[in-house]
Amino acid sequence: MQILRRVDRLRSAVSLLRGQGGHVALVPTMGALHAGHMQLVKEAKQRADHVVVSIFVNPKQFGANEDLDAYPRQEETDAAMLSEAGVAILWAPDVEQVYPQGFATNISVAGVSDGLCGAARPGHFDGVATVVAKLFNQVQPDMALFGEKDYQQLAVIRAMARDLNFGLDIIGVPTVRDSDGLALSSRNAYLSPEERAAAAMLPRAMQAGIAVIEAGGPVRVALDGIEQALTAAGFASIDYVTLADAATLEPMDAADRPARLLVAARLGRTRLIDNMPVAPV
Ligand code: PAJ
Repeated sequence: MQILRRVDRLRSAVSLLRGQGGHVALVPTMGALHAGHMQLVKEAKQRADHVVVSIFVNPKQFGANEDLDAYPRQEETDAAMLSEAGVAILWAPDVEQVYPQGFATNISVAGVSDGLCGAARPGHFDGVATVVAKLFNQVQPDMALFGEKDYQQLAVIRAMARDLNFGLDIIGVPTVRDSDGLALSSRNAYLSPEERAAAAMLPRAMQAGIAVIEAGGPVRVALDGIEQALTAAGFASIDYVTLADAATLEPMDAADRPARLLVAARLGRTRLIDNMPVAPV
């Protein structure tokens, strides 16, 4: 596996791979890799001949009071995992390669970026869309894979790729969970042992809520039940508990079409997000 940090080197390495024929897949990450990220790599290996993984902790998608400095960084361990998994190129650009002096462009995907995490984290999805557009142009892959774990992010990227004719396939991969149901996340490392135990209540409360909705119960009652269960489990603040259209992410008050239940809540200082499909009734 080659570890590259400069765009010119990346470009020549990708053209060499292309010369060998076959498809190139990109898996963008911020590192601190876990089994969720590795599932994207595995899926990429199955669908493409050459896999490029990027690791870049993107300052533009962190708010002023967020965890940019504290975000876990472990490039050596990450590189070993990726090499073992058969990745061709680890693209780990220096920050000047991504945001050189005078960088002035911003990509903003209206509508789908606005609610949910976009409302709680102003500017976050502009930062994500801008860096992902850059990664797409730097690597020029045939396909890129993203986790459903960050469901709104996946929707934002799908919209951007469509609107700007990126001409690549965006592939969503189902969320990988721990044995107690908690979605794997690099931020789980921030949880104390007590918080980690309480965190399992998040997927459990969501499943209970979905059971109510899928049995034809009132959506409001189900969502309130989830909030109450989270508060009882010690979640400090709840950003949202929302039933939304699975494609547009517009809030819904009846499960009359394919929907997604989306939750963001804080446990101590750690913000956890999760989402699950809800079948129409
Ligand atoms: P990061 O949080 O490192 O996640 C990288 C990719 O892994 C994302 O597509 C995310 O949805 C996916 N992922 C994370 N946890 C997962 C899990 N438990 N199951 C399945 N997939 C999971 O998301 C980002 O980085 C950044 O915003 C990025 C897209 C790289 C832009 O900077």
